[in-house]
Amino acid sequence: MSGDRSTTRALGLVTGASSGIGRALVDEFVAAGLDVLAVADEDVCALPDGARYVRADLATPQGNDDVVEAITLEERPVVAAALNAGRGVSGRFDETPLAAHLQLVAVNIVSPLRLAHHLTSTMAAQGFGRILVTSSVAAQGPGPYQSTYAASKAFLHAFARALRYELRDTGVTVTSLLPGPTDTLFFERADMGRTWIARGPKADPADVAREAFAAMTAGKASIVPGSWFLKVESAVSALMPEGVATRLQAALARPRGRDRQT
Ligand SMILES: NC(=O)c1ccc[n+]([C@@H]2O[C@H](COP(=O)([O-])OP(=O)(O)OC[C@H]3O[C@@H](n4cnc5c(N)ncnc54)[C@H](OP(=O)(O)O)[C@@H]3O)[C@@H](O)[C@H]2O)c1
Repeated sequence: MSGDRSTTRALGLVTGASSGIGRALVDEFVAAGLDVLAVADEDVCALPDGARYVRADLATPQGNDDVVEAITLEERPVVAAALNAGRGVSGRFDETPLAAHLQLVAVNIVSPLRLAHHLTSTMAAQGFGRILVTSSVAAQGPGPYQSTYAASKAFLHAFARALRYELRDTGVTVTSLLPGPTDTLFFERADMGRTWIARGPKADPADVAREAFAAMTAGKASIVPGSWFLKVESAVSALMPEGVATRLQAALARPRGRDRQT
């Protein structure tokens, strides 16, 4: 990882750093020689030397402002940032609380947008930067029973690719990360325990983070981490007729034990 390291270690930022993929990304950033601002709502697990928590509720404007302020107080450029925090909501849209969906939009869409605006402007001015945006394979089409989640990840994937194009002459690259099911707290937090996805095979978050970090540092456009099976499955499902893909996603994400939906 390059950047100005003449007087001090370069700085990285990881959101959603308290667990799962984000926590594993912190290890990757530190192993590459970066100091890390590790953003999370709660500092529940220990961090390696070189990383420190920034406590912020990214669902709020204040939380995002606090992160920008923490970056500014460092008085050194952020050379790499993973916009990774995210949450899910499981169930039929009309049967789940609107507040939960609005919270999801705030964390999964509005927060990355706010932080990316600060990061892209400072990185473009400094002529270097690497940004990783955690989308999902769920971005590839409609996601019944996780409708706002899949839509939020589609937003992030499109947003990342558009930023990447706009910034192509600035030294800043943007990489979209599209993990498949990964063994983290995500499913429990999203109340997805009764779905087929939650009960199926999952990737190790450390492996996901390793592939994601390599793709980000290499400046790649996107990465589907994991086995070749997942990469092929992802490519095939992207080519499926929408009706077939939607029914498949519905079967995987429908909470079991509820009436079949039309
Ligand atoms: N696991 C999967 O199968 C999978 C697949 C594809 C994509 N993803 C995406 O990967 C990313 C990381 O998720 P994960 O699987 O590692 O799940 P996770 O273990 O639940 O981690 C989610 C992280 O997001 C943070 N977060 C959530 N709401 C927040 C808020 N309001 N303010 C600040 N931080 C907040 C959490 O911090 P706190 O604990 O402090 O709230 C936590 O660190 C998410 O964007 C998720 O959508 C996951």
